[in-house]
Amino acid sequence: MQVENGHLQDGNAANGGDLVKHTVYLSLVRNLIENPTWKGGIKIRECHAGRGLYAPVPGNVDLAHNVMSEQGPGCLLGEMERGILSERKLLPDGTAYAGSALLNAYNLASLGVPATLDLYEMDGAVRRDLSAIRDYPSIRQAISDGKLTVNVLEEGRGEEFDGETYIRDTMDQWGPEDVILLDPFAFWRDDDKSRIRRVRRGLYRDILDKSATTQSTVVIFFTWGNAHLGARQDILCCNAACENGYQQLISHLWGDRRPVVVTWCWRYTFAMWIVSSGCQHDLLVGATKRDLDQLHQHMRHHRKGPDTDWPCLVV
Ligand SMILES: C[S@@+](CC[C@H](N)C(=O)[O-])C[C@H]1O[C@@H](n2cnc3c(N)ncnc32)[C@H](O)[C@@H]1O
Repeated sequence: MQVENGHLQDGNAANGGDLVKHTVYLSLVRNLIENPTWKGGIKIRECHAGRGLYAPVPGNVDLAHNVMSEQGPGCLLGEMERGILSERKLLPDGTAYAGSALLNAYNLASLGVPATLDLYEMDGAVRRDLSAIRDYPSIRQAISDGKLTVNVLEEGRGEEFDGETYIRDTMDQWGPEDVILLDPFAFWRDDDKSRIRRVRRGLYRDILDKSATTQSTVVIFFTWGNAHLGARQDILCCNAACENGYQQLISHLWGDRRPVVVTWCWRYTFAMWIVSSGCQHDLLVGATKRDLDQLHQHMRHHRKGPDTDWPCLVV
């Protein structure tokens, strides 16, 4: 069996950003459900959900293949990818790769905890593909056992659905058990010409501000593409002038909302924040580090490590 290719998002699937981002998602959920706040029912609100299953472009097929390889020390992401693909009778050869929505659903199903996964996706055609994640046997079983609920918002409709605005406008009713995943594309640099970038940065500021009241966990993935110098200026604190940019946003997060920050450069520059007040910061750092170290060791075994900086945890 083969996975359909030629979709716009296939270009990033299984790149160095995805492998780290997806490891952090899997690790985070496994860590949170050990905690009383999420044990009785975790609610994942995943924005920018994407298609579920991708056909990586040739430059990323090797990475996908190696992460899934049974040779070497092994890693959480590879184990999950192999499990998912086997349910569709797809070979773990790098020509198919499960993205975040499918990984999250599969992770929750395999953990067997009471869970809800709400998926927010802008593009109606992509939402149609997304609906198919309920057909994977283990996910279907968890749904029919009443353990897992998977909602695709605006399913079956063709119109655009802006999940970022939906989250900002709805999250007042959410609580500590809600985990909001945001995976926006690059818009962190100052850009006077782009009103839309300024508006979206303001929206992220609102979401972070509101999460201080609701105590919801927020995870944001940042990418600067190949604007490495600009990325370093943002990350290293030299660019606080950008309104609601990286440094201004992080300066709002302190005390029990101090984020776990992961930064890395693997062809492109990336960062991730985990803002979670309901779980012990040190435990979260330890678990994230352990799973990222495993990924590192596994990829080094295959001589497919990053071409620049390996993920670095800033606590
Ligand atoms: C890079 S893809 C998602 C990748 C996926 N999160 C993963 O890690 O496998 C980004 C997706 O976000 C969607 N998107 C962009 N803006 C959005 C918004 N405001 N609300 C919901 N989805 C959005 C796009 O249509 C696209 O499918």
